[in-house]
Amino acid sequence: MPETFNSALPGEQQSIRRGAWVDALPEPGSVVVRVGDSASLLRDLAPESVDCVITSPPYWGHRDYSAGGIGQEPTVQGYVEALLSVFEPLQKALKPTGSFWLNLGDTYRSKRLQGIPWRVAIAMVDEQDWILRNDVIWNKVKGSPDNAKDKLRNLHEHIFHFVKDPKKAYYDVDAIRRPPRAATERNGKVQSATGVSGTRYRRQIELSTVLSETEKVAAMSALDEMMQSVKAGEISDFRMVIRGVHRVTHSDSVRLSGRAKELADRGFYFLKYHPKGAKPSDIWEIIPEDTHGREAHYAAYPEALCEIPIQATCPPDGLVLDPFLGTGTTLVVAKRLGRRALGIDISKEYAAIAEARIKEVA
Ligand SMILES: C[S@@+](CC[C@H](N)C(=O)[O-])C[C@H]1O[C@@H](n2cnc3c(N)ncnc32)[C@H](O)[C@@H]1O
Repeated sequence: MPETFNSALPGEQQSIRRGAWVDALPEPGSVVVRVGDSASLLRDLAPESVDCVITSPPYWGHRDYSAGGIGQEPTVQGYVEALLSVFEPLQKALKPTGSFWLNLGDTYRSKRLQGIPWRVAIAMVDEQDWILRNDVIWNKVKGSPDNAKDKLRNLHEHIFHFVKDPKKAYYDVDAIRRPPRAATERNGKVQSATGVSGTRYRRQIELSTVLSETEKVAAMSALDEMMQSVKAGEISDFRMVIRGVHRVTHSDSVRLSGRAKELADRGFYFLKYHPKGAKPSDIWEIIPEDTHGREAHYAAYPEALCEIPIQATCPPDGLVLDPFLGTGTTLVVAKRLGRRALGIDISKEYAAIAEARIKEVA
């Protein structure tokens, strides 16, 4: 076993029995940092005890972390194997309802982009039966300077969302919806947040040469009902698709699409927006935090990157794990959101920085 300096936060040092880390984390918001090699320390965790893992392993061959560890393998294949040797005990420690969010960046070798994120993801699916639910593109918006004259600037990384069992996986979609803007009412006329007042649709129905008179009457009355639902706050917004005016959103084939059939049979249909707001997409625009002030470490990910994973896939009383803790960003956010959390890093130096940051969270 490598050295296992344990510390428990807040405050006092705790001696944690082998195999009993989870017992040592009873309070919501309590956080533990351990120093050592994740591949070996994760075996100490009680099986099926972790709700949500969020992590960014070292890039392959990019950076020289203070205590070595993963990333220095001579081949890409060796790097993928080293990561999988950590993900195997991690998978055992994850609950059947659990989620694993993995942030990976790519690397060039002799001008060749290595495709590292997908190599790792495919190996996880093929060799360890992980189920991939999303490939989130993290658009970093502002990148580091790139003077290469023969390629584009690299501005994105991947965040893969894996689960053990998609039927059992915990997912609180309402916790991550962006609240819709409310409808407004002026001179007795309702207008949805995106400006839908019904006037334009009404005119399109009236002027239609494709709808029959009966269909026009039905479309007008359905539109009135929809505006009432907006007014009552039952839906936040909608779009109306009218035969001969708009195209079907997915497929024109009546055989393939229920909507195409509805359009053919009735002459119109509605696309209703969820009253609690829209789900975030799989493209996240998050500017990396400025870590120049932090001398020891320069690959911290932004706190915002951990928010959706924790809110959606860690229950309020759940346990978050980061096996490549670095400066502790995951645990800072977990503590702020009232979750229990534990982090592992091979470097004593980074673990100390992480502890200091976590202590600052009220
Ligand atoms: C990219 S950094 C993590 C950055 C982190 N997300 C943050 O916001 O600060 C990767 C970390 O993994 C650690 N590491 C490398 N190999 C390790 C291993 N075998 N076990 C535990 N930690 C390891 C490194 O010391 C480094 O701090």
